[in-house]
Amino acid sequence: MDFSKKIINWYKNNHRKLPWRENKNPYYILVSEFMLQQTKVSQTIKYYSDFIKKFPNLEKLAQAEEKEVLKVWEGLGYYKRAINLHYFAKKLREKSIGFFPKKYKDLIQYKGIGPYTGAAIASICFNEVVPAIDGNFYRLFSRYLGIYNNITSILTKKIFRTLILKMMDKKNPGVFNQAIMDLGSTLCTPKKVKCFLCPIKIDCFSFKNGTIYKLPVKNIIKKSIKKRFFYYIFICNNSNKFFIKKRFNKDIWKGLYEFPLIESEKVLTLLEIRNKIWKKYKIFSKNIIYKVKHQITNQILFIQFLNCKMIQSIQIKKSLNNFFCISYKKICNYPFPNPIILFLKNKKII
Ligand code: ADE
Repeated sequence: MDFSKKIINWYKNNHRKLPWRENKNPYYILVSEFMLQQTKVSQTIKYYSDFIKKFPNLEKLAQAEEKEVLKVWEGLGYYKRAINLHYFAKKLREKSIGFFPKKYKDLIQYKGIGPYTGAAIASICFNEVVPAIDGNFYRLFSRYLGIYNNITSILTKKIFRTLILKMMDKKNPGVFNQAIMDLGSTLCTPKKVKCFLCPIKIDCFSFKNGTIYKLPVKNIIKKSIKKRFFYYIFICNNSNKFFIKKRFNKDIWKGLYEFPLIESEKVLTLLEIRNKIWKKYKIFSKNIIYKVKHQITNQILFIQFLNCKMIQSIQIKKSLNNFFCISYKKICNYPFPNPIILFLKNKKII
């Protein structure tokens, strides 16, 4: 039996039962692939089910407001994915194409659909013969074929693409892609491999030569982690509403909502924070009431929350012009970054 037949047979009996695999509805695959771009399968399942419940088809997604989409995405991170997914739905409706793009080359024209996602959708839903190459593929094929080239180089990526295309099952490209994903995630893992269960071990270069943990070769240049210091001010008015605004800048959490903020490149003393808050917002802040550390790719955020004197409605400051007030009941209508959710939970507001 050749490589792809073994892989496909293995998949038939051992594939992971995942909710987006129940049928080949391209919308379901699209949503799952967007979520899986930066997130593990186990973490995705609940978000996927909630998302499909709330937006059961492209039309419903296109009709939604951005903040509703982000609310369902809240906590999953990389919010740009949700914005791009929403954009895709709106774009299809606007163009009144009326049908889902079926070809890899058309799919990758859309924001947020890269070669991997485009290939996954085109192969799984429309049987196009394109490999959906992710880290699982590089690891599995490096080991199986004994490829010692650095997998982060563009040239190596091209070589892999050509090799994999040749080895792919031309009748079942979607099954082939998913089989490699599953084999890579369950047996041919970075650590604690389960070669004894592997259907292709007899021909695997690394299994035969005892070099499993030497491959793949990665030359990652580690980017330094940037430290950022966020000081949020929790401002309530006398009707027990608090101030928030949407984040617009090209930065993390675009589209999510937050309290008035002072950001600094270095840690500040309480006095310095209070002075800065006074300068920017003309508000007397009081104490630090909550602290949280939040790590995201290449950034670590040290976040503190301060309370301040109650603001009377009549004296709403000009400095808070960009902000608006919401009541506790309305929290469920606005998407917030994780640290703010934690703060609200800690304050027993949600
Ligand atoms: N990771 C990315 N896409 C996937 C898929 N369709 N199934 C399982 N894991 C994945």
